[in-house]
Amino acid sequence: MMAALDMDAVNVLVIGAGVYVCGRGMEGYGTVLPAVAECHRDGLIDRVTVAATAASSVRILRGKLEALNERLGTRLSVDGVPRAGTDPQAYREALSRGRFDAAIVVTPDATHFDLASHLIDAGVHCLVVKPLTPTVAEAVRLVHAAESKGVHGAVEFHKRWDEANLFLKSLVRDGRLGQLRYAAVAFSQKKMVPQTLFKSWAAQTNVFQYLGVHYADFLHFLTGALPVRAMAVGQKGWLAGRGIDTWDSIQAMVEWEEPSGNRFVSTFALNWIDPDSTTAMSDQKISLIGSAGRCDSDQKNRGLELALDGQPVSVPNPYFSSILPGPDGAPRFGGYGYRSIRQFIEDVATLKTGRLRPADLAACRPTFRAALPSTAVVEAVHHSLELQGEWVPAPRGDLEPAGRMK
Ligand SMILES: NC(=O)c1ccc[n+]([C@@H]2O[C@H](COP(=O)([O-])OP(=O)(O)OC[C@H]3O[C@@H](n4cnc5c(N)ncnc54)[C@H](O)[C@@H]3O)[C@@H](O)[C@H]2O)c1
Repeated sequence: MMAALDMDAVNVLVIGAGVYVCGRGMEGYGTVLPAVAECHRDGLIDRVTVAATAASSVRILRGKLEALNERLGTRLSVDGVPRAGTDPQAYREALSRGRFDAAIVVTPDATHFDLASHLIDAGVHCLVVKPLTPTVAEAVRLVHAAESKGVHGAVEFHKRWDEANLFLKSLVRDGRLGQLRYAAVAFSQKKMVPQTLFKSWAAQTNVFQYLGVHYADFLHFLTGALPVRAMAVGQKGWLAGRGIDTWDSIQAMVEWEEPSGNRFVSTFALNWIDPDSTTAMSDQKISLIGSAGRCDSDQKNRGLELALDGQPVSVPNPYFSSILPGPDGAPRFGGYGYRSIRQFIEDVATLKTGRLRPADLAACRPTFRAALPSTAVVEAVHHSLELQGEWVPAPRGDLEPAGRMK
């Protein structure tokens, strides 16, 4: 299929070659590589380069891609750097060799600022996986840089594409819950995530920054509210005892103010030490309680349970990122993880025609500027953890002294 007439196929640089890109170390193919393969099949993407830190990672990715192409019937091929040995700056070589319209940054949190800064300097539209950055000061610098350079910067907040969350948004928009009083979020993942998959960088982040940020962004998207203050406590021991110095679990409370002036509170109960034997990688729930109603969304158990001889029972979530038969029975990659990435690619393909400017996307995408509230929550929670649970004002950055962010 060819790209739509009002879009030009884009050249994409993917930075990172880990779990989220290609499912490294796991079954399956990740989310970014299959999304890119689908966009390539549809004519939205022309060429793809992957910049990793080691040639061995590129080789593993190529193995995944070969199997993925066979499964999906796609014909994506990738250029990869570094070509030999290791080089954490290999993305610079890629940028100097080719002309890229778009980049997707899928690397550990602490690298996002430097990589995004470099891409913006090079005039490349970028999609950065969450969290944008751990601090508001860094995020504000990226916002200024992207806006002054005319670059579209977006964060891969895929929960904005989940129909269960869009249902909640429609309830709030239509006022059916009355005035929001509080939101309760519970989100956890298996021990294998910090212990095995992210072992090399788990101690440089925390479970709020990793999981909580998703729902911090969602609550801003849901209500237009800005965070006012936050408090958080956490527990350490299981991971620290295994040489990974980070919180096992964090409980946080955030107070928000809506554009109407209504204040509500969100609670977050988070961990990444669920047993590896639990029935899904992610256990996630959100409840919204308003003056006129409540809505409870179990975002783990969506009605599917799978029991197979000789295997543990599992609770699949095919709505996020999965290969399912299309209308003709042939396998297609889809889900809200896919739609989030495809939206960015379509946006860049439209920007390339000149019929759209990055400013046109400001009010309707998870742009860098739209990520400031979630970044402020991440930073305030981190600060409160250091202060053993004191309430901490949410930093506003220098962009919006008194008004509010879009
Ligand atoms: N795994 C998920 O489901 C998921 C979902 C959404 C977002 N994310 C986010 O994606 C990011 C990466 O997660 P992951 O699961 O892929 O982790 P990972 O540890 O499996 O992969 C990270 C990759 O980044 C590479 N890298 C580090 N510095 C680099 C550099 N300078 N240049 C090129 N590559 C570099 C590493 O070599 C590694 O291949 C994190 O911020 C995470 O929060 C992950």
